[in-house]
Amino acid sequence: MTSPYGLQGRAAIVTGGTRGIGREVAGQLASAGALVCVTARDTAEVRRVAAELGGIGVAGTVADPAHLDEVVRLALDAFGRIDVVVNNAATNQPYGPLMDADPRAWREAFLVNVEAPLRLVQGAWRAWMREHGGTVVNICTEGADHVGPQVGAYGTSKAALLHLTRQLAGELAPRVRVNSVSPGLVRTEMARFVWEPGEDDLAAGLPLGRIGEPADVARAVIWLASDAAEWVTGADLLVDGGTSVRAAYSSGTYAVHERLRSRAPGTG
Ligand SMILES: NC(=O)c1ccc[n+]([C@@H]2O[C@H](COP(=O)([O-])OP(=O)(O)OC[C@H]3O[C@@H](n4cnc5c(N)ncnc54)[C@H](OP(=O)(O)O)[C@@H]3O)[C@@H](O)[C@H]2O)c1
Repeated sequence: MTSPYGLQGRAAIVTGGTRGIGREVAGQLASAGALVCVTARDTAEVRRVAAELGGIGVAGTVADPAHLDEVVRLALDAFGRIDVVVNNAATNQPYGPLMDADPRAWREAFLVNVEAPLRLVQGAWRAWMREHGGTVVNICTEGADHVGPQVGAYGTSKAALLHLTRQLAGELAPRVRVNSVSPGLVRTEMARFVWEPGEDDLAAGLPLGRIGEPADVARAVIWLASDAAEWVTGADLLVDGGTSVRAAYSSGTYAVHERLRSRAPGTG
């Protein structure tokens, strides 16, 4: 298919590209004609998705700088270019009150959610983008600009990622555009403990009447990564079904926060 967005033949790296939002982003990039390199920790999943997309993949954690170096090297060797980086992999641990946060888990959160995106952009910049240009999209969260129960580490690290996005946008212009997408609640494994069970109650409190699907977020990522957004940098695109404007829609309690208070994710 010919890309409507100028993504045909471009090369993209998507971290956490094996399921959820990252898988959908990788799939939409491939459908738009891009060459795609996916990463995640599970080797078999990386292999499976790379094969499905006709792309390549590398297994490892983004917390490991050597893994990020390998991703850049492999993408450059295989594709001869790196035009798009999507920093999508993240952790929502440590979950709970900040007074109980384990310092090692806190550091890991910042390593995965903030440092890894910076390191991957540094790698892509040095290897290709400094000379040839490119685009970066960081996946933040609608929750990054307000506080919430139990999600202090996650929210703080995502707020840092939001700031990093804007800082990099200024530093890397005009060659490289850097933007973020901030999803509301999306139907993925990471958020399953929030939306299941009782999805209808959640949906009723959202202005657009449903929780998000990975494709909702991926379409925004693809647009920002594409030439259609050529005059957009340092932006954060909320894709949240109206979550952030719900106060003007309904006077009820915010079901997501009620659930964050009373439920917990699995570790992983
Ligand atoms: N779902 C939501 O409601 C929601 C809302 C706001 C923001 N977000 C953001 O959206 C992004 C994607 O989340 P999702 O909901 O799609 O999650 P998901 O379904 O759990 O998928 C996460 C992906 O990242 C990979 N991954 C996790 N930790 C990794 C690590 N340390 N190194 C490399 N890969 C890793 C996972 O594979 P492996 O486990 O094999 O590594 C998987 O491919 C995240 O940045 C998240 O913060 C999600």
